[in-house]
Amino acid sequence: MTSAELRGAIDRALAEVPRRLASGELDGSGRFYTDEELAAGAATGKLQKKEKSGAAPTAWCALRWRGSRGFRRKTLKTRPNPYDAVAYPGMPNAGTHPDNLAAMATLHGLTPPPVERCRVLEIACGNGSNLIPMAYAIPTSEFVGFDLARLPVERGQRRIAELGLKNVRLFQMDMLEAGADLGRFDYIIAHGFYAWVPEPVRERLLAFCSEQLAGNGVAFISYNAMPGGHLRSMMRGMMLFGSKGIEDPEQEVAEGLNFLRLVVETLPESDV
Ligand SMILES: C[S@@+](CC[C@H](N)C(=O)[O-])C[C@H]1O[C@@H](n2cnc3c(N)ncnc32)[C@H](O)[C@@H]1O
Repeated sequence: MTSAELRGAIDRALAEVPRRLASGELDGSGRFYTDEELAAGAATGKLQKKEKSGAAPTAWCALRWRGSRGFRRKTLKTRPNPYDAVAYPGMPNAGTHPDNLAAMATLHGLTPPPVERCRVLEIACGNGSNLIPMAYAIPTSEFVGFDLARLPVERGQRRIAELGLKNVRLFQMDMLEAGADLGRFDYIIAHGFYAWVPEPVRERLLAFCSEQLAGNGVAFISYNAMPGGHLRSMMRGMMLFGSKGIEDPEQEVAEGLNFLRLVVETLPESDV
């Protein structure tokens, strides 16, 4: 882990602190802190890292803030990004293709930007499995993607280099840091993202779209909704239960799947 990445881990951990303090997560006494107290707090930024063989390092962030009883100190442990530790199987999603977005927009009475001359941004692009095929198919348009996880982005960058594509680039970035310097986009895609990220990230996504989407541009933001989401949520709940207390992300997934198998195997034949 480079020092810049370490700094990124600290910043992300710090960004989470107000929420964790507000929810009481960081204070054993259950005391809640006001915004003023938080603003007065000083993050010491002291950080250690622990290398686990083959696993992404875990970081601890030491924080110091002024409470009513003087300075207080807490140590916040950041988990490795699970998308760095476990490769996510990305794949093309036809619904997000500018052809489809332009067709849908036209059916709704809009005049979308021409697909053969457009700028497309994919937020949380993973390894680019969705974006790279689009860039290959529409060489006259420009495709940009970013993701918080570094390793999938690096895999995508290698694929782009192998294909020799000049109209697509991927980079690592946190949605919270996305701003006007990325430019304006005719199409913005965020699939498998909104329902996966905390509230401040969702808000930044929506604000970014309103700031950086071109006049007649189209944003595709997918999300899980109830009641259909119950099916996925049920599986998630069982996997979390079955893997409780396990820190290593790969082992966590394996134990979660083992638990699901156990549930299926122990069900009476008539229930399957
Ligand atoms: C469920 S995956 C979906 C990946 C891809 N969009 C797809 O549909 O296959 C969620 C993705 O969101 C990324 N992510 C999570 N928080 C993020 C953030 N704050 N900024 C950018 N990407 C983030 C993760 O690294 C991960 O690649």
